[in-house]
Amino acid sequence: MQQTKPLAYFKKSDLFSRLRDAELEELAATAVPKAFPKGAFIIQKDAPGDDLYLIVSGNVKVTLYSEDGRELILAELREGDFFGEMSLLDGKPRSAMVIALEATEALVVRRRDFLAILNRNPAMAVKIIEALCQRLREADEKIESLAMLDVFGRVARVILQMAAKEGVRQGDLTVLTRRITHQEIASMAGTSRETVSRVLSRFQKRGHLSFSGRRLVLPPNFGSQL
Ligand code: CMP
Repeated sequence: MQQTKPLAYFKKSDLFSRLRDAELEELAATAVPKAFPKGAFIIQKDAPGDDLYLIVSGNVKVTLYSEDGRELILAELREGDFFGEMSLLDGKPRSAMVIALEATEALVVRRRDFLAILNRNPAMAVKIIEALCQRLREADEKIESLAMLDVFGRVARVILQMAAKEGVRQGDLTVLTRRITHQEIASMAGTSRETVSRVLSRFQKRGHLSFSGRRLVLPPNFGSQL
């Protein structure tokens, strides 16, 4: 892996930062750095699995596919986030696919090493429970969106969630600096790419948002006048 040393990285990650130095060293000695190219299938749904991945750099999507190939993106995870904890903790098959959205590097921790440390560190268990609660809240919001909002509301909500996670403030405006495709928004909002294109151009015509090149630019009150 690049310059990032596993020990330094575990130390600055939210999940592991409270471990004592000896435990961080133990973890760093057993973790395996792995690099995935853009588009790599890191985790296959329903496969057995007992590794936990901590993202060092890059970006992944957690996603489900229907039999006819439609995609529903459950979440996008980035540097400092972890995934794979569900099968690791309950021993059941993987709950979703995880695919690299760009070149991604991760530290992979094996079940046995992880559980040994977890058993000695209740504070780390609390961190994992907090992260699971946060994911459950976001999943509840997604269920609410899919069941109760029309497509305008769903697309607006996806944009607001992206802005909250990775938007950059420029004065009053929020700019989504990563290039996000209409297909990606569609897969998060449970609709088609064509519909997202129509909804975005309607938002643009009504002055709800604008584009700088291919980047989305949101006014301070985006969402409130929809
Ligand atoms: P696991 O089931 O082992 O493998 C797939 C992983 O995707 C899962 O662990 C979680 O880490 C992650 N995952 C599954 N569902 C969600 C979700 N709704 N939000 C965020 N991450 C998820």
